[in-house]
This record gives sequence, structure tokens and C-alpha cells, in this order.
Amino acid sequence: GKTLLLDTDAGIDDAHALMVALTHDNCREIVGITCTYGNCLVDQVVKNVSYILEWYDRKIPVYKGAQASLMRTYEDLAFHGLDGLGDIEYRCDNKEWIDSLLQSEHAAIAMINLSKKYEKEITLVAIGPLTNLALACRIDGNFPSRLKELIVMGGSHTAMGNATSTGEFNFVVDPEAAAIVLDEFPKSCPVKIVPLEVTHACSIEWDWMYDTWLKQDSPKATLNRDMTKNLLKKIKSGIPEGYPAWDVLAVATALQPNFIRDSFKTFMTVELHGSRTRGQAVIDRRMKCDYPVEVITKIDRELLREMLYKSTMSMESH
Ligand code: BDR
Ligand code: CA
Repeated sequence: GKTLLLDTDAGIDDAHALMVALTHDNCREIVGITCTYGNCLVDQVVKNVSYILEWYDRKIPVYKGAQASLMRTYEDLAFHGLDGLGDIEYRCDNKEWIDSLLQSEHAAIAMINLSKKYEKEITLVAIGPLTNLALACRIDGNFPSRLKELIVMGGSHTAMGNATSTGEFNFVVDPEAAAIVLDEFPKSCPVKIVPLEVTHACSIEWDWMYDTWLKQDSPKATLNRDMTKNLLKKIKSGIPEGYPAWDVLAVATALQPNFIRDSFKTFMTVELHGSRTRGQAVIDRRMKCDYPVEVITKIDRELLREMLYKSTMSMESH
């Protein structure tokens, strides 16, 4: 099984990704969850992560990380609701529970220390802006070399955008951090990128979402129904094919054998200066690249549905 470290800005699809990790047979251990701002502010991310862990009754160390981007703040964060988790009326603030999970170390320091403790064992799955990873790698240049692999949900390879016309959200929120990660990690750590394109091309059909998954009868399925209600409505008007399940694909890439159906290797970096294209991922397939990343272009959608279904299936109550 895999040893995971999850860096997240939870986020509803981040919550789905975490739920899949918590219920997947191939996940040996989640050694920590590091939080970054993104879909909401970092204190709220800590609450959201703790809340999901509470539902699954799992005590996993949670670390608070970056409060903002390295260079410029990004304002438009509320796509997943003001609280990042669909503005449901549940309470994400069981202080005693949160205190029992939340560690005092900063997320970037925790990543470095965990990489020493579990040298070459950790699959780092990054599903938010990459600020914590960039910080960790600037504090300790050997950090990437102690990981087994890095999987990032972020960027695009055909200039497809969601946060801007050409930029994917996680890269656009902190382009400098994404550039540091793409410059540094591939030199000593295998990097897989789950770009925006594959998440849309392999999105979960609306029929299955509404008629199968969200009709499931379990306490967790009820939570899921409430949590996703507003987001799905919003997405449906813009993406007719289905729910893109963005971050879930990154966790599935880490855990699920035979999940990846197609990919290509390329040099990838990030545009930092364009007045319209800041945060756009830039690939160059002309050159021979010594340290390419692997960009995933096709996954097994059936397996993805199975993982999602299983993640909310249990009958234990909250
Ligand atoms: C990414 O942006 C966030 O809204 C999602 O959680 C995902 O990480 C998709 O562009
Ligand atoms: Ca995310």
C-alpha cells in the first residue's frame, strides 16, 4: 500500500479526494494532512479537513500552512462556498476534536520532517495552490529527493483555463510557487501532473451523480448530498458533461492501480508575467528535457466512480 501526505485547500472536491484516500484499500497510511489557503482561508481549511476526519473517525495529524501566496494575493476564492465546503449548516468547529488533530509545526516544516521520517516512502499529493511545497523546498533543497513521488492537480497543457481564460485555479492562485515546484521537484522526484483537461474530459456524468451516487443511503452520503448541492448546480451550468472531480483524480492516481490510461512526458513551467496569462502552465514538447513531468491525459472513469461510491458507503453513523 501507499504512504500518503496530502496538501489541500479543502474545498469540496478536496473533501471527496480525502474521503477516497480514507477508504481506499491501497492506502497504507496517511502520515499527515497539510493545509494551505485556496478555496478558503487556511484556518477554515483546517476546520474543513478536521470535519471530514471527524465523520470518518480518523485521527490523522493536521498541519496549518501558508496563509497567502508568495507574491500577490488572489481574491476570488469562494467558488466552493464562503466556508469552502458548500455553506452547509453543519458545524465545522468541534474545537476539542480540531485541537486533538492540529499540530504546532508549520505545514512546510512538517513536510520536511515527515520526508526524513519516511524517507523515499511518501507519495505527496498536492491538491491546492503549491505554496507549502515551494516553501518546504526553499527551506530544504533536499526535500524533493526524499519523496517517493509527487502528484499535483494543477495547470493545463492546452492553455485551458478555469480561474482565468488560460489558467487553472491552483496555478493561478500562486504562480511563483507552481514555478518553483515545477523547476525543482522533477530533478530528484518523479512528478505526475493531473491537468484541468483530463478532469473535464473524464468528468463524472450527471446522471450517475444524481441518480446513483447522491441517492446512496448512508449518513456519509447525506453529508455528501448537502455539501455538494450548491457547487454542483453552479458547475452544471458551465460544464454540461459532468462533475470534473478535479482533486479526486490526483488521489486516485496515487492509489489506484491501472487508473492512468494515457499520459505524456514534457517540460512544464508557469507564465509569471503575462497580463492575461499569469499563472498559465506552459509546456514545451520541442525540446529534449532532462527532468520532464508526466502529464496525465486519460484515466479509467469506471474505477473513479467505484472509488467515489465506496467512499460514502459505510453505514456507521456520525
Ligand atoms: C482546482 O481548483 C479548486 O477549486 C479545486 O479544489 C481543484 O483543486 C481545480 O482547478
Ligand atoms: Ca483543491
